[in-house]
Amino acid sequence: MALPSSGGSWLASLEDEACRVLPPEVYGYYRQGARDGTTAAEAVAAWERYRLVPRVLTDTRAVDLTTSFLGTRSAVPFGVAPTTLQRAADPGGEVAMARACAAHGVPMVLSSNATATFAEIDATGATWWLQAYLPQDRELARPMLESAVEHGAGAIVLTVDTPVVGTKYDDGAIWSATPPSWLRVNLGPAADAPKARDLGPADFTWLHEVTGLPVVAKGVLSPGGAAAVVVAGAAAVWVSNHGGRQLDRAAATADCLAPVVDRVDGAVPVYVDGGVRSGITALTALALGADAFFLGRLPLYALAVAGTDGVGRLFSTLTDELTEALVLAGCPGPEAARGVARAAPDGAP
Ligand code: FNR
Repeated sequence: MALPSSGGSWLASLEDEACRVLPPEVYGYYRQGARDGTTAAEAVAAWERYRLVPRVLTDTRAVDLTTSFLGTRSAVPFGVAPTTLQRAADPGGEVAMARACAAHGVPMVLSSNATATFAEIDATGATWWLQAYLPQDRELARPMLESAVEHGAGAIVLTVDTPVVGTKYDDGAIWSATPPSWLRVNLGPAADAPKARDLGPADFTWLHEVTGLPVVAKGVLSPGGAAAVVVAGAAAVWVSNHGGRQLDRAAATADCLAPVVDRVDGAVPVYVDGGVRSGITALTALALGADAFFLGRLPLYALAVAGTDGVGRLFSTLTDELTEALVLAGCPGPEAARGVARAAPDGAP
């Protein structure tokens, strides 16, 4: 059993802080998972089952965290995952988030349900990608996609785990408290359309033809799924269970990552999200083979606590924690971390 820590890290306290400052319906919306919330509840602990095996006699005087995200250099191996309703966390919403990203060289994936326009995000100077769901009638998404290209999006992140929106209990309060002007800001005619239940290789081709951008597949958990999206033309595979908000009892991303990395075998980058709340977990994700990882709830909580400055503090703190973890593991950078994690023996805490 883990010993209780006295004090604890700021990152670990962020959720409690956010709970204190946010209206209950907003905090509840950010935190919730689908159905019984099993997958959402397991995400953090799933990483904690892995153990790290440091390298020794390595030169870690200079730790270099710079990472290429589909050809764009970033200061760190992490980005902000797409999350809706950021304006409910802070009046600046996605723009406040993007300002922190721009200042710290962190890429941001903008939810297609964002409360800020593409032009506003572009004006911050952040590197940004558009997350998209495809409607049954694909053409309804074309105006949003073309507008994203016009305003500097660097990639399309196709969320492949949402043929329907997973049921969340107690979902009503947030939507009745949300001003209609925050919704449908960029979605255009796709706003009310049913989502596609027949995504396939042709969608990757179509998205690439419409936008000219790389298309990332977000929401892959199995090696077979990873192989399929790579064959379909995905520029990267993003291991995710949507923060436990889609299929409840979906497997933890911590456990799905390494088999996916094995199957992809370097053909394209592999990203991961879900339950990353500390530098040690970040190291674990890199050690299990992720090229980079994304943060969903943590930046929302930081935004709620202190706006752009809060998100900036999150990025600096996570960078410091990850740097220390890398040095202690004998790794001068993210790539060197590959292989320093292993599953804890059965029955170990
Ligand atoms: C999400 N997520 C999400 N994903 C997506 O593809 N499109 C979206 O619009 C949203 N919206 C969204 C809202 C909120 C409030 C949350 C918490 C999450 C999922 C998100 O991108 C990511 O996969 C998870 O949040 C990662 O897990 P952690 O970091 O929150 O544990």
